[in-house]
Amino acid sequence: MGPIVLNCHVTLDPAFRIGTVDPRLFGSFVEHMGRCVYGGIFEPGHDHAGTDGLRQDVLKLTRELGVTMVRYPGGNFVSGYRWEDGVGQVSERPRRLDLAWRSVETNAFGLNEFMTWARRAEVEPMMAVNLGTRGIQEACDLLEYANHPGGSYWSDLRIAHGVREPHGIRLWCLGNEMDGPWQVGHKSADAYGVLAAETAKAMRQVDPGIRLVACGSSNDRMPTFGAWEATVLDHTFDHVDYISLHAYFEKAGDDRASFLASGLAMDRFIDGVVATADHVAAKKRSRRKLLLSFDEWNIWYESRFAGHTNLDWAQAPRLIEDEYTTEDAVVVGSLLMSLLRHADRVGVACLAQLVNIIAPIRAEPDRPAWRQTIFHPFALTARHARGDVLRVEPITPTYDTAKHGDVPVADVVATHDPDSGAVTVLAVNRSETEPVLLQAATRALPGLRVAEHQIIGGIADELLLTNHADAPERVGPRQGRGAVIDAGVLAVELPPVSWSILRLAR
Ligand code: AHR
Repeated sequence: MGPIVLNCHVTLDPAFRIGTVDPRLFGSFVEHMGRCVYGGIFEPGHDHAGTDGLRQDVLKLTRELGVTMVRYPGGNFVSGYRWEDGVGQVSERPRRLDLAWRSVETNAFGLNEFMTWARRAEVEPMMAVNLGTRGIQEACDLLEYANHPGGSYWSDLRIAHGVREPHGIRLWCLGNEMDGPWQVGHKSADAYGVLAAETAKAMRQVDPGIRLVACGSSNDRMPTFGAWEATVLDHTFDHVDYISLHAYFEKAGDDRASFLASGLAMDRFIDGVVATADHVAAKKRSRRKLLLSFDEWNIWYESRFAGHTNLDWAQAPRLIEDEYTTEDAVVVGSLLMSLLRHADRVGVACLAQLVNIIAPIRAEPDRPAWRQTIFHPFALTARHARGDVLRVEPITPTYDTAKHGDVPVADVVATHDPDSGAVTVLAVNRSETEPVLLQAATRALPGLRVAEHQIIGGIADELLLTNHADAPERVGPRQGRGAVIDAGVLAVELPPVSWSILRLAR
């Protein structure tokens, strides 16, 4: 290798903090879609399933992934869902048509099964209510069933179903992607805003301890983006705790340069929603900084999906089971950096989805579950990004992209855990050809040494490799070498197209 010509300089100082890492940034999502529930987390009769039908191998990988919170049951699915179908005697539950994914829903798995799964997975539940085909009453009924201790119709029904203790679900989404014309029960911003505000008020009467998420835009390419948030928040600002964002990224053709810079698009999207929320706050003379719930994000090769209207009716069909490459994992790492950088405003985030459907975990009927490439940056970040996110200003050259214009060749985010003194540095090198020498001044954090350095990517021939059923462990992180702290400066080489995480400890 020749001399390094690209540099990136940052200063790490615990005096400059953005915000605290909320563990809920490491959430995920389980939807009744394709094989996420049936054939994913739940597969009675599978070699790895317990007597309750829950796949133990998937549970183990979910815990290893470090997921803290899981959104359920949709997604587009929730907008036509009757939650009552999924409780009580399984043999008496109806089979229904799920219009969102043209699937037959058996309802063998429902709220109480999900809560059992969530306890085993050691995750907090985030529940979505149907504001597509249903409304205030059904949302309150579900909340009463889930959270009321007893002595009322719905809470007593839960007890009759064998669940004595209330579930105590704190996080609730007021519908899903209601701005999208594809959504069953799609609404105008005004109609949704009024319904969401009234539903929020009524739900808080049932349980004042809940935290509520209003639907923002399905993505920032929606023609209504910005105006949708402004109108919805005009109605709901005083009644909700979060506004949602959803975004899926993919590589267009062979435009790797733009794809690697997807984190900038995520930054812009977040900044736009923050600006809109603060605009509404200003109009309302409120000092409140509304939080954001990025409750669906990932890479999704959506252009390869024929669309739900072209599907044939089927039960638990194979839908959007994208197989991820090493370069996808590098991009997922950089998207996690974008979320961390906004830790002052993004309080919830969900990698969508958890199993099989555009997922870090894959499962098949005839073998144990395995980790996709994107599993690794998520697991490493969830494990190591702790405490405060530090404000860093990388000084680094830029490169030109077709989609995002000039883009910094490297990006850096750092966290500092005030309790242990440990620092975690996350860095991405987007150059396709050149290594970057990252130099981080750590003088304000004396006594640190490099305890661990893991790299994903960085080997040109391996960027398009995937993990699949016959090669489930082909791609994973590898040990970085040569990172040192000398005279108060961390120096580390970032190979081309790579994502690194370094743990600095005392
Ligand atoms: O995650 C797949 C789908 O993407 C979800 O059902 C929907 O909310 C989004 O459009």
